[in-house]
Amino acid sequence: MDAAATKRSERDDRELDANAGAKRPESASATRASEIRYRRLFEAARDGILILDPGTRKITDANPFMSELLGYPHEELLGKELWEIGLLKDEEASQAAFRELQLKQYIRYEDLPLQTKSGLRRDVEFVSNVYTEDGRDVIQCNIRDITERKQAEDEVRELSGHLLKARDEERRRIGRELHDSTAQELVAVAVNLDLVQQRSTGHDVTSDNLLADSQAILEQSQRELRTLAYELHPPALDEVGLAGAVQEYTAGFTQRSGITVRLDAIPSLGRLPGETERALFRVVQESLGNVHRHSSSPTATIRIARDGAAVVLEVTDQGCGLRMRGNGTVEKAGVGLAGMRERVRQLGGRFEIESSKRGTTVRAIVPGEARKNEDHADIDCR
Ligand SMILES: Nc1ncnc2c1ncn2[C@@H]1O[C@H](COP(=O)(O)OP(=O)(O)O)[C@@H](O)[C@H]1O
Ligand SMILES: [Mg+2]
Repeated sequence: MDAAATKRSERDDRELDANAGAKRPESASATRASEIRYRRLFEAARDGILILDPGTRKITDANPFMSELLGYPHEELLGKELWEIGLLKDEEASQAAFRELQLKQYIRYEDLPLQTKSGLRRDVEFVSNVYTEDGRDVIQCNIRDITERKQAEDEVRELSGHLLKARDEERRRIGRELHDSTAQELVAVAVNLDLVQQRSTGHDVTSDNLLADSQAILEQSQRELRTLAYELHPPALDEVGLAGAVQEYTAGFTQRSGITVRLDAIPSLGRLPGETERALFRVVQESLGNVHRHSSSPTATIRIARDGAAVVLEVTDQGCGLRMRGNGTVEKAGVGLAGMRERVRQLGGRFEIESSKRGTTVRAIVPGEARKNEDHADIDCR
């Protein structure tokens, strides 16, 4: 707080104390007391506050935090327009904002870049309201510095991107290991058991029963192992791409769950970058898992299409739907939906959910550039 503001605040404190015992008319002293309280808030707030004249659009007052944030002394802020202190891009942007403000009496920009007097960039949330004071309109702008919050969010996003990638690589490695090594070893055991069976004379019933039992258990383990390896990383994804892998996956899913899945994929999709194919495949896997676990829908449809330069993937069911908030977010999102959203965001895409009592659609819209050669090389050398 600068020296003038401190003095003002001390004077207000004295007046507020004096008011408590004074014999002024009730309403006048109450008004004065609330004015002083407002002033105190104004001076001490850790949000920037600007008061503007709607006619001239010029600043008539600014709180100390605003000066601190922008790097302008209080007197220098007075008489300036917002665009002159780096708050709105230029005069044109400022005029547009005032037109909107006139119309709605309220505007809010969630993320506005601001330039300080020394040229530093900060990000702020900007809220502006029109109030009437003594029969005159005034504009109050509240400016919250969100630079650190945004940086922290970026860091968390980057970290979750690394985690998703590391988890995918690990799944892929384990999937391949199970498929290429453990599964082959089980095949060898099955061959040996067959040979033992061929040598059976039929005299030792107990041994024959044990053998048959072992063969049945082995067969079951092989089935489970195949499914697990496939869930971890379907080889078809590397070999034939997204549409082929989704087709193969949905066939297995239908067998396991009894849910009929229709796949509607454009034939001309072609190969997408490995990262895009893997992310979209996980969206299919996770969404079908949700259809099975939560929706009670007997059917689902997967649509893979192109929309201009983007690829759109939709998984739709005809189930009970999920609870959405007014702002389009899910009331009870878990790791599954959050993971899908993050994967799509990492690709620079958009993730949407639409839901009603008649069913749910999960949609991923991602940049759809074609796969480059490096992607093939990346896969071949593994
Ligand atoms: N297709 C769906 N139909 C109905 N409800 C769903 C569907 N998908 C998700 N949900 C609801 O959203 C919640 C969050 O899903 P998700 O993030 O995948 O977490 P999880 O599946 O682990 O519960 C689920 O618990 C469920 O209540
Ligand atoms: Mg889930």
